[in-house]
Order: sequence, then C-alpha cells, then structure tokens
Amino acid sequence: MRASAAGVLGLETSLLQSGMGGVAGTELACAVSNAGAAGCAGGYKLVGGALSAMLERLTEGTDRSVGVNLIPEVVGPVELRRQVAQVLHETPERVHLSFFGMPEEAVFDQVAAAGRRTVVQVGTVEDGVHAAARGAVVVAQGVEAGGHLLGTSRRDDLVGALRALVPDACVVASGGIGSPEEARRALAAGADGVLLGTAFVVAHESRAHPRFKSAVIGAEESDTVITDVYEIGWPGRRHRVLATAVTADPHQPAKFIGRTEVEGKPYLVPRFSAAVPTEATSGRIEEMALYCGHSCGAIADQVPAADVVAAYARVLPGAEVVSSRERAQSYAG
Ligand SMILES: Cc1cc2nc3c(=O)[nH]c(=O)nc-3n(C[C@H](O)[C@H](O)[C@H](O)COP(=O)(O)O)c2cc1C
Repeated sequence: MRASAAGVLGLETSLLQSGMGGVAGTELACAVSNAGAAGCAGGYKLVGGALSAMLERLTEGTDRSVGVNLIPEVVGPVELRRQVAQVLHETPERVHLSFFGMPEEAVFDQVAAAGRRTVVQVGTVEDGVHAAARGAVVVAQGVEAGGHLLGTSRRDDLVGALRALVPDACVVASGGIGSPEEARRALAAGADGVLLGTAFVVAHESRAHPRFKSAVIGAEESDTVITDVYEIGWPGRRHRVLATAVTADPHQPAKFIGRTEVEGKPYLVPRFSAAVPTEATSGRIEEMALYCGHSCGAIADQVPAADVVAAYARVLPGAEVVSSRERAQSYAG
C-alpha cells in the first residue's frame, strides 16, 4: 500500500513547496504550511546565529508540518552535519529535513534517530531507489525543472521508473508543473504528490526580486535554457534559468554587478553568481541567475501562496492510503 505525500508528512494536501535559497524565506514557508501543504525554508549556507534566527521565525510562524532545505554538495559533509544537528536541536518534531541531492549515510541516520522525516530530491533512478531504501520521501526531479538539475530524465519517465522499482515508496514529482492539469499528468505517471518551485517564486510571500517575478510571469517554456554559467557559489552543476545577456555571452568579465543582503549581512554580487536576485538585491537584476522551470509557460499571475495551494488541492491526494492500482485508476482519466 502507498501513502500519499500528505499522509507521510502530515499535510492536508500532497503538495510540497521547494525550499529555494534566498527566495523561500519563512514568510513563504509558513504561508504554504498554514494553507495545508508542506512549506519549506531554504537553509542554503546558513549556520550558527543566522540559522537559529531563521528557525525561530519558522517555528513561530506555523504550528503545522514544515521543512528546512539543505544542499549537501554546496556545504560539504562536515558543515551539513552541523546544519542538520542545529535544525534537529532547535526545532520541534513537525519540522522535516529536505535535501537537494543525496546526503551521506550518516545524515540519514542522524535524522532518523531524531524521529524526523527526510525528503530527498533526486534526478536518477539509482539515487531514487537508494533514498527510498532509507525511508525518505523521494522527490523525482525532471529536466523540465527550474534551478540546478540533478539528472537528465524527463519528470514522468523518472517517476514511472521509480514507481516500477519501488512500488511502496512515496514518490513526489518535480519539474515543469505550472498548472493543476500538469500535476494530474504527474500523478497519472505514478506520483504520490508534487513539488513546485517556479510557481511559488511568483507568490506574494516569496522574496524573489519583483523584476524576477515579472520575468517569470512573462516567460514561455522556450525562454528558458540549461547552462552552467552561474557557478560562483555552486560550481559544477547545470541549471535551468531564463535566458539572459550572460547566458547569451558567457565570456564577459566576472566583475561585480550588484549588491544583496542575506540575514542582514551585506554581500557584493559578481556576474556568474549562483545567488538569485531577492527583494534585498540591487543592480543588474536581469543579468543574474533567474532560475525558472518549464512551468513558467502556465504561470500567469502573482497570487498569495494559499491560492496556489487551494488550486492544486483540487487535484492532489489528501492523507489517505490506497493501493497503487486504485491511485493509478483515479488519475488516468
Ligand atoms: C528560483 C529557484 C531556486 C531554487 N533553489 C533550490 C534550493 O535552494 N534547494 C532545492 O532543493 N531546490 C531548489 N530549486 C529546485 C526545486 O527544488 C525544483 O527542482 C524545481 O523548482 C522544480 O521545477 P519547477 O521550478 O518547474 O517547479 C530551485 C528552483 C528555483 C526555480
């Protein structure tokens, strides 16, 4: 028997919001969780006092199931274990850990020993099977996704392959979902829920820069490109972004093109920085990393996060447990 994502994470609806570093602050995460889905705050490189401040706002802003997103390959194994220990120590049991890419074995043990849920986003069948064997909610990311890419498969091919190999695992589809109709297609491929990134970039509570939000609203699928040019701070991984003057001509000098703030600390933004422009960023916004999925083609309005959740809740499973056959039949038509 398969549990829906809502059943596993204690939600009203099987919808996960991606923990997007810089964009998904506690305002967005809490708004999504308070609306009955799984909000998630981007932890990115935060540690110590800055991470504590974020965790305090998160747990004060919602008393429901919510996540903290961390990125193993950005911080490395030692720093990741430190971040995880801090999250486990400073938050209640309803806070789960969400990882972009596979953490080390010791991290699965660390989270399980604390009785918490793990969510792992993967881009290959091999990683998905591994994460499922460790009891994680497996987020299957397709190449349609906005942001950094973990594999090369199309979303529903990966979902279908994982469904066949790990029939009882909770598999969540990610990448290119910009409408409830597209979510329905992912469910028909075998998913137990969906994760949305780009659709929440434009939410009122997102911290994305207003010009980044407008660019997503105005974009079509064909305005996105896969590139590796935004590599300062997160090297060695391809990402899907809106095409910019920088993706068109990557041979420009790596000089500073803006300023930003993270948890109150000022930073200069170099051209080719992996950091997204937020409401605290100034400078040449249109040249920065505007991560955006194929989903943009179906996203037309800036709305409150609760409206996004309500629209998708109409097609997504609630907390029920059903057989694989029943679920496949309910979304096939
Ligand atoms: C602006 C932006 C920032 C992102 N940052 C993160 C991140 O920090 N951590 C993470 O796990 N995924 C991140 N992602 C990727 C998402 O988890 C997910 O794979 C993607 O958004 C799904 O495709 P969609 O954007 O078409 O919904 C980001 C995506 C976007 C659009």
